[in-house]
Amino acid sequence: MYSEKVMEHFRNPRNVGVIEDADGVGTVGNPVCGDMMTIYIKVKDDKIVDIKFQTFGCAAAIATSSMATELAKGKTLEEALKITKKTVAEALGGLPPQKMHCSNLAAEALKRAIADYLKKQGRIDELKRLGLDKLSEEEHEEEVCEV
Ligand code: FES
Repeated sequence: MYSEKVMEHFRNPRNVGVIEDADGVGTVGNPVCGDMMTIYIKVKDDKIVDIKFQTFGCAAAIATSSMATELAKGKTLEEALKITKKTVAEALGGLPPQKMHCSNLAAEALKRAIADYLKKQGRIDELKRLGLDKLSEEEHEEEVCEV
């Protein structure tokens, strides 16, 4: 049911872990299944120079988190914001339709980590311009839905 690339990223996920002194952190829960993930970013000159993730989720969630972090590494914040669940799924050679919701975790957590970074930097105008201001104000815990 999974592509070879999905299986490969599931077996050998890239960028797993925590960045203790992260510049931005984003956590999100999947309302469909209740799984969770957190992304940590280090930013220099508005580029993502390091990124790590922790996922409590299914094989698709792990593979999409791994791919999303690979896609985001080295990108500017604005470029990274263009990474969507579709981008991630395509980079993995597709996902079964019933697993598409899993790829939303990584794209959302990445957005939240960027919003968190901009907020910590006091760049509120940019947060608003990029439509991330509401996102950074939401309580992460509220995103975790019951299965
Ligand atoms: Fe929960 Fe895939 S089933 S993220």
